[in-house]
Amino acid sequence: MAGIDVRALSVVYAGGVRAVDDLELTIADGEFFALLGPSGCGKTTLLRTLAGLEEATAGSVLIGERDVTAVEPARRNVAMVFQDYALFPHMTVAENIAYPLRVRRASRERRRAVAEDTSAELSLAGLLDRRPAQLSGGQQQRVALARAIAMGAEVLLLDEPLSNLDARLRLEARTFLKRLQRELQVTTVFVTHDQAEALAVADRIAVLDSGRLRQVGTPREIFQYPADTFVANFIGSTPMNQLSGRVVGRGVEVVGGTLPLPPGLDRPEGSAVTIGIRPEYLRLYACEAPEAVDGLRGRVSVVENLGVTTLVMLDCSDDIQVGVTVPEADEPAVGATVAAVPEPGRILVFDPDSGQLLTVAKPS
Ligand SMILES: Nc1ncnc2c1ncn2[C@@H]1O[C@H](COP(=O)(O)OP(=O)(O)OP(=O)(O)O)[C@@H](O)[C@H]1O
Ligand SMILES: [Mg+2]
Repeated sequence: MAGIDVRALSVVYAGGVRAVDDLELTIADGEFFALLGPSGCGKTTLLRTLAGLEEATAGSVLIGERDVTAVEPARRNVAMVFQDYALFPHMTVAENIAYPLRVRRASRERRRAVAEDTSAELSLAGLLDRRPAQLSGGQQQRVALARAIAMGAEVLLLDEPLSNLDARLRLEARTFLKRLQRELQVTTVFVTHDQAEALAVADRIAVLDSGRLRQVGTPREIFQYPADTFVANFIGSTPMNQLSGRVVGRGVEVVGGTLPLPPGLDRPEGSAVTIGIRPEYLRLYACEAPEAVDGLRGRVSVVENLGVTTLVMLDCSDDIQVGVTVPEADEPAVGATVAAVPEPGRILVFDPDSGQLLTVAKPS
């Protein structure tokens, strides 16, 4: 087993695209680590550079404390699962799984034994003699995974392994993947552009933007304390509310009302800030309720059914809307005027120019 160190890594393609830009990352031994970010942010390039399939322009990659920057892919002891699985169509499932052993000239018996063991672990027993074309997308994905595991590599690199699956299967597959990773305890780097998937499976997440690292943290840290407005916008199934405001005393005036300035944050009177608050961390009250004093007033314009919860959109002005998630039973009437009150400690304050988070408002 091995951890990974990425030191001042840059990867510049011919033509000048800086796909990875001065990246520093430390991934612990046995960690399930997600690389998350929008299309083109450099996730695949970083993964391929870890595998040795792409050359570092500057900086270095260490695996298990060994500098592998100049080491060829086959000698890095990493296994990569590609987005399209890259199975050999003319080989059976068993032959596909055991292929890495064939390359190493293992005996036929040994190959069959490893294929049988690995396939049992991945619920593929009974399919060993089929060819990839005779499998479902989920089964093909598991064969690709089984082949990577059969290599006995210290590091697993997975590039969007679930993206070819339909929504339902994708949920099952990610739970399966998480359980398998726990059992194997193999250091795993998992690429996705799906924030919900990263939050669900990863021990820690790195959020990338244009080849640069925006934030590294646990799913909870990234969800609750996004380092900047880019991360805040990217994470969460419902977008975080962002409101322009001005500091007045211990409060921030925004359209719709005044919100308390988080304790420990001092900003000069009158300074501009951006307030961030997730719809999940707002509560709705009738305007005359005593709690409503500290809230944002608005008129309910739209309610969206999210299943168990409902997303309520409040118009605080003609062009400022605030989203609030409420239990299904508390859904207000469209047209009602209500107050949205933040839960204590859930207000984030960002610098309006740089977008950086100014305070960490610990939940009380
Ligand atoms: N072989 C290449 N030559 C030149 N530019 C490339 C090459 N491969 C990727 N790029 C560019 O590098 C940047 C990062 O690409 P990369 O494939 O790593 O992104 P990604 O985060 O994996 O995106 P996606 O989510 O769409 O898979 C993009 O701007 C892309 O256009
Ligand atoms: Mg990619």
